[in-house]
Amino acid sequence: MATEQSDSDLVKVADADELREEGRLISRAGNRALALFYHEGEFRAVDNRCPHMGFPLAEGTVDEGILTCHWHHARFELSCGDTFDPWADDVQTFPVEVRDGDVYVDPYPEPDLPPVEHWSDRLETGLEESLQLVVAKSVLGLADEDVPYTDPLRAGLAFGATYRADGWSSGLTILSAMANLLDALRPEDRNRALYVGLSRVAQDCQGEPPRFDQPSFSTRDVSAERLEEWFRESVEVRDEDGAERCLRTAVETLEPERVADLLYSAATDHLYMDAGHTFDFVNKACESLDHVGWERADEILPSVIPRLTRATRSEELSSWRQPDDVAELVFDAYDELPDLLEDGADETWDDPNGFVETLLSDDPEEVVTAMKAAVQNGATAAELAGEVAHAAGRRVAQFGTSNEFSDWNTVHHTYSYANAVHKAAL
Ligand code: FES
Repeated sequence: MATEQSDSDLVKVADADELREEGRLISRAGNRALALFYHEGEFRAVDNRCPHMGFPLAEGTVDEGILTCHWHHARFELSCGDTFDPWADDVQTFPVEVRDGDVYVDPYPEPDLPPVEHWSDRLETGLEESLQLVVAKSVLGLADEDVPYTDPLRAGLAFGATYRADGWSSGLTILSAMANLLDALRPEDRNRALYVGLSRVAQDCQGEPPRFDQPSFSTRDVSAERLEEWFRESVEVRDEDGAERCLRTAVETLEPERVADLLYSAATDHLYMDAGHTFDFVNKACESLDHVGWERADEILPSVIPRLTRATRSEELSSWRQPDDVAELVFDAYDELPDLLEDGADETWDDPNGFVETLLSDDPEEVVTAMKAAVQNGATAAELAGEVAHAAGRRVAQFGTSNEFSDWNTVHHTYSYANAVHKAAL
């Protein structure tokens, strides 16, 4: 149906008698494709593209005020476009007037909310109800309004840190990792990366109870050393509430670097906690604050506490004790560390030939000996962590494709952990 521009915002889109007779018509106004309906004595206009996946709604069914799309059967209240099925999203409706036997539509009505507010609200809804389509549209809508990526990132971090009693999990880690990647991605891929992270956060929180905060201590008269000691001791005895009160007090009284140190210390008081997840998640939580600002630490960091207090400690696992007592080797090396560091204080380390190959050796004693020698010869934490991350990456690249998924988990956990240690040491 051809359309005519009227003297107002209204555009003529149909002959009223024809629409009454046909019950439905398709038309255009500006760049809008419209589905027009005459139903229960009223003229209605909706966007002809189903908000779910674009099926033409003019081919849907209208019955008792409900428009049903024929592809996945999403239902929409015909007069306002609100959906009965949130996974499909609401469809836009347009004001209609009938003048002198013609139907007019306003194709660009004033939105109820400014676009940034609208898309921010929609993102919150998408996260709350784990609606991937709504999350995706919100990311695109906010990007179209030139909203910086840190705004949806901040919303996702705050949501994930609040609405999961078990705390920080893979969704928040993926979101933080995606934020780290944004600068390296092509502009057209950045929205996809943000969407992947945000939708994983929503999935992690779906059906989960929320977290309830413990307050900081009311005194500020506690030294940094004592706070760290209390925090590590609370984690040691798996006391979540005590650890949270210490951490919140630390966030309010200490510099960000000191807060990060306190978390990293607790995450390394035992070996390879939770198959490396604990350190990796602490690192990602800290990195996420580098994006959105450490003034959000109070909102984000307490969510990592369950990952510290509930973690498996690898020295308790038989695989770390048999056939080689790797745990004991590491503890012994730890005891030697002050002397090794003193020896290497004035040295400049050059990685010896084949150092990465040595780190990939099957003999744990050979590996620990090489690492001790590196420290003794002046290797910094960042240099050594970089070599370990390099070795862990090589192991992933060279891992046999016939291995089972759980075997792959072993190598990729090692890599994630080594990468997190390297990033933290930089
Ligand atoms: S396209 Fe309409 S419900 Fe899926």
